[in-house]
Amino acid sequence: MILPIYIYGQPVLRKVAEDIAPDYPNLKELIANMFETMSNAEGVGLAAPQIGLSIRVVVIDLDVISDDYPEYKGFKKAFINPHILEVSGEEESMDEGCLSLPGIHESVKRGNKIHVTYLDENLVAHDEEVEGFLARVMQHEFDHLEGKMFIDHISALRKQMIKGKLNAMLKGKAHCTYRTKTVR
Ligand code: NI
Repeated sequence: MILPIYIYGQPVLRKVAEDIAPDYPNLKELIANMFETMSNAEGVGLAAPQIGLSIRVVVIDLDVISDDYPEYKGFKKAFINPHILEVSGEEESMDEGCLSLPGIHESVKRGNKIHVTYLDENLVAHDEEVEGFLARVMQHEFDHLEGKMFIDHISALRKQMIKGKLNAMLKGKAHCTYRTKTVR
């Protein structure tokens, strides 16, 4: 089922999301719906707050960009209760976008290596060092679980430049090809 995507201004996007219990009801169905919602909106990642749920569940699909990044062929995973323990490595800048911020793309600087813990969709625990593009996508998605969005990482000047677009979203104007839920 395709769910509406919550747009900038929705308070749930600014809340710190809670870990879920292993017996969280209908988890498999939720994950399937998140994959479907993300793929319909042509995203590579989606965090539960973006569908209005303040819980630590994220889906990432890098198979869709495996023409550019062959190492991610077949990479389609759900992450439950993820936590970033450390960001390290070299800082790199790259343009980012977000399904909750339609029409905005800005360069974001992030460390290229992270130490993460999470459960996979079979509830198996992982403790991993992740590098490269996946480390960036994870940081973007897991930020959503801390109530953060990528525009929090840009300069005051750049933020000023996109103010008009952000204000339009607050007024309920979000021009996308997918279903959205704005504050008004
Ligand atoms: Ni996002």
